[in-house]
Amino acid sequence: TFVVTENCIKCKYTDCVEVCPVDCFHEGPNFLVIDPEECIDCTLCEPECPAEAIYAEDDLPEDQAHFLELNADLSKSWPVITEQKDPPADATDWDGKPGKLELLER
Ligand code: SF4
Ligand code: F3S
Repeated sequence: TFVVTENCIKCKYTDCVEVCPVDCFHEGPNFLVIDPEECIDCTLCEPECPAEAIYAEDDLPEDQAHFLELNADLSKSWPVITEQKDPPADATDWDGKPGKLELLER
């Protein structure tokens, strides 16, 4: 499966959702996740993310390993998103900022 990691938080560009052939992105208030039970590993979303927040499970950086479980958990309760929308107005300010996990809204 592919996994959305920390740098998506508060950036949420949503470029990723348009290319997914199986609609497995789910949307929360300031973050997106991938449903690991739906993802078919097509790889299309990874290069679409301007924040480089999407990784194949096998390529997850060590400090992002916990996002695997977080994607699985949150995708159960968040709605599917299939259409790109405008990112938050301050998205570029947050791109690359460390420590965003504590700002995740559920
Ligand atoms: Fe969707 Fe493909 Fe990305 Fe999986 S790898 S989330 S199937 S676009
Ligand atoms: Fe997030 Fe990147 Fe998609 S910032 S919403 S994973 S395009």
